[in-house]
Amino acid sequence: MAANYTILRWAGSKRQLVPLLSSYWRASQSKRYVEPFAGSACLFFNVAPKEALLADINLELIATYRQIKKDWKGVLAILEELDQSKQTYYSLRSLDSKKINNPLVRAARFVYLNRFCFNGLYRTNQSGQFNVPYGKTGSIPSELVFSRSSKLLKRAHLLAADFDETLRYVRKGDFVYMDPPFSVHNKNIFTDYDSSKFDFKKLIRLRKWMRRLSRMRIPFLVSYLESNEAKMLSEGFYKRIISVRRSIAGFSSNRKAAREFLISNILV
Ligand SMILES: C[S@@+](CC[C@H](N)C(=O)[O-])C[C@H]1O[C@@H](n2cnc3c(N)ncnc32)[C@H](O)[C@@H]1O
Repeated sequence: MAANYTILRWAGSKRQLVPLLSSYWRASQSKRYVEPFAGSACLFFNVAPKEALLADINLELIATYRQIKKDWKGVLAILEELDQSKQTYYSLRSLDSKKINNPLVRAARFVYLNRFCFNGLYRTNQSGQFNVPYGKTGSIPSELVFSRSSKLLKRAHLLAADFDETLRYVRKGDFVYMDPPFSVHNKNIFTDYDSSKFDFKKLIRLRKWMRRLSRMRIPFLVSYLESNEAKMLSEGFYKRIISVRRSIAGFSSNRKAAREFLISNILV
């Protein structure tokens, strides 16, 4: 398994696939790395590109990356003041992030909840309040992880946007890695990143973008759980099917081998 340089935990993160995924980035010989569904941006933090565009629809996530980029010491200082108890977790969780005026405090709260919540899940209720339970086994990222993350984020342009918008900024010389949420019917695995679900219409839009990127000769890589939808996405592109260990419904005790499609317009 690759070393883990990510600052956040994220359900559906592709940590175990980093060595394979990074071979696509290297083969593309691209100048800029683009990730429209960033999450914990596991591949980005591991390949450490010189230039990047990182985006996600999750505003709180991107706002947190912006603060780590700008002032990681400020975020860490606030985290170090907090005790690591279940009680503190629930009192931070009960705050309405929109009412926290200090962006450093808001970012520290996000990192704290992410690091101490159950299995790195991100889920909100209908009013947008984070509602994942306490996860017992968390830890605060080290100074080294914070400073490295900040250094790498300084090379990235950060965007809180739907992938459709992000992909409009793609240009020649880019490599695009897309790891969308699963939109498989009757399998509600890892779809709760945001109140807006990743439905079939979005999948069709993604497929259109894959074709457009190919016409523009821009190398891309898409990862997707084996399914009819993955077959639809892969039609006309190179595909590889690999086995991954995946926790079902976020329960790490319930890990199963799942098969994942890697779809690309370059042969690696
Ligand atoms: C499977 S996760 C990505 C995990 C990531 N590869 C990592 O290393 O952690 C999917 C991400 O897509 C984001 N997302 C969901 N719908 C989106 C949309 N329409 N546009 C952009 N991002 C979206 C979610 O917030 C989530 O962070």
